[in-house]
Amino acid sequence: MGDSMDTRQEMLPLGVPTGRLGSGQPYAQETMSSRVTNIASPPGFSVLTHADEPDYSYLAGEASALVLGDAVSVLASMPEDCVQTCVTSPPYWSLRDYGIDGQVGLEESVYDFIEALADVFEEVWRVLRPDGTVWLNIGDSYTSGGRTWRAPDKKNRARAMSVRPPTPDGLKSKDLIGVPWRLAFALQERGWYLRSEIVWSKPNCQPESVGDRPTRCHEYVFLLTKSERYYYDQDAVRGPNGRRLRTVWDLSTQSYAEANGHFATFPPALVEPCIRIGSAPGDLVLDPFVGSGTTALTAGKLGRRFAGIELNPDYMAIAHNRLTKEHFVQEPVTGHDDAGKAVGT
Ligand SMILES: C[S@@+](CC[C@H](N)C(=O)[O-])C[C@H]1O[C@@H](n2cnc3c(N)ncnc32)[C@H](O)[C@@H]1O
Repeated sequence: MGDSMDTRQEMLPLGVPTGRLGSGQPYAQETMSSRVTNIASPPGFSVLTHADEPDYSYLAGEASALVLGDAVSVLASMPEDCVQTCVTSPPYWSLRDYGIDGQVGLEESVYDFIEALADVFEEVWRVLRPDGTVWLNIGDSYTSGGRTWRAPDKKNRARAMSVRPPTPDGLKSKDLIGVPWRLAFALQERGWYLRSEIVWSKPNCQPESVGDRPTRCHEYVFLLTKSERYYYDQDAVRGPNGRRLRTVWDLSTQSYAEANGHFATFPPALVEPCIRIGSAPGDLVLDPFVGSGTTALTAGKLGRRFAGIELNPDYMAIAHNRLTKEHFVQEPVTGHDDAGKAVGT
């Protein structure tokens, strides 16, 4: 667990640890770019398939892992209190079909979707250290306005849906659903501290054809904690002229070519400040919806360990290949999918 255990016991209010502050380098959120540091000896990791009785006890030690399986069941098998920070972007409600049974996001009711995610975060709570943080990226959507399907988007084929869910109870057609805040309040009710909402402002957002409202160009990242006091290295990331980080982050979207438009990938520059602030080198960073592996890769490059969970074997293969290219593979692939095929080779 790196060198961080002792210093964490000496916490100042709001979790600023004494004796082990970060680089203090200025970090201009207006021009956030991928500014990753290569660490001399990246941690080794394995790609594992979730088994009935898996042993992930090594995650409490020195290792990293990409695990193929359902987020709730894999998390339920992980040791408690082993994760320092969780950076994740779950599927958005009713936006994409990730093409696999058991996926989150296709619930008919938005309330079921929120329950499903709250269940995932209940397991995140268990594996998160008491002084840990969660950085949860989630976008909003509108009610369907009576349409029952969504035409393929020329730029993003995965956005075509054969069905669209009915308008949620209590809402009207054309209503903005407010999914992020509904989820944030649901998590707050389950005990999470809602510490901040960060607006991810996207200068290169997709144009919209609607003429009766402004084009949406932002999403949210919620900072959630288990405790009032938590690990938060405010000096690890600074704004221009060394000022404290603010709540609006201007960052262009950035797709990972191999993900091929199948899903929205994180820009590494969105993940990096969360990891820098929320963890120290050697700590374990979790992404229960790891997709193409952006969180795992960024964590590895920053010298953190990672646990990345993904349900779809094709996406897990993308993540594995991506980390292989960046030389984060030190061990042979040990996992197989349900059909017995090796994953990630
Ligand atoms: C928005 S994408 C994450 C993209 C990721 N942030 C990246 O940078 O590539 C959400 C991912 O969650 C996965 N997913 C959906 N349901 C899941 C579940 N029950 N357990 C684990 N992963 C799931 C999808 O297959 C998809 O890859």
